[in-house]
Amino acid sequence: MSYISEIVTMQQAYAASEHEVKRRIDLNILMADAIQMQASALEKRDIHVIRKFGCQLPVLIIDKNRLMQVLVNLIKNGYEAIDQRNPPTVKRTMTLRTYGDERSIGLAITDSGIGIEDRNTDRLFDLGHSGKGSSGFGLYYCKMFVQANHGNMRIDSPGADRGATVTIEFDRQGAAAIDEYPSTVAAVVSANPPAHPHQGREIQP
Ligand SMILES: Nc1ncnc2c1ncn2[C@@H]1O[C@H](COP(=O)(O)OP(=O)(O)OP(=O)(O)O)[C@@H](O)[C@H]1O
Ligand SMILES: [Mg+2]
Repeated sequence: MSYISEIVTMQQAYAASEHEVKRRIDLNILMADAIQMQASALEKRDIHVIRKFGCQLPVLIIDKNRLMQVLVNLIKNGYEAIDQRNPPTVKRTMTLRTYGDERSIGLAITDSGIGIEDRNTDRLFDLGHSGKGSSGFGLYYCKMFVQANHGNMRIDSPGADRGATVTIEFDRQGAAAIDEYPSTVAAVVSANPPAHPHQGREIQP
């Protein structure tokens, strides 16, 4: 399959439906697919992508299409923050991390972009707040989705021109979002490679 048609197929596979559909997912697979979805934007900018994926993550029960929209939004914010460095930074990296244990599961995306000067990062999540003349919808949408799934989300930065990290975490406590630990999804995928690369990636209940 060609590169373009693979992306189109993936976009179709992750097209959000009108209704929320919660499924059992492997966060590492979702993160890898999110990077793939943004591959051309990252390559064009010569951004070095570093994957630090945890092993034996618990299963996350969530709408995978909507979580994909969140990840794509965050990666986009990350490379836009790198675009905004002036003069352009020589260090062009994005690190995507997943982690989890029997109590929680989370992800963090760190970029080497313009960073955030303001210590009050809460307002960045306000609807319509944009520091780059865009619609200011991305982080608002992401936080709404994460909170609706009993998760926490925050953005931190050591300061101007020092990059930023977005973290999303779901706790087992009070959240129906986490199921068994460790996840058996990876084993299922590698044991039975699907005929189509983006099918069969969810574990059936
Ligand atoms: N990784 C980041 N590094 C530095 N600043 C960031 C980062 N992510 C978000 N911001 C700041 O937070 C603001 C709000 O982000 P948000 O994604 O909600 O809106 P936007 O990117 O401006 O617009 P949209 O996502 O609708 O295109 C951004 O405009 C930017 O100023
Ligand atoms: Mg955005």
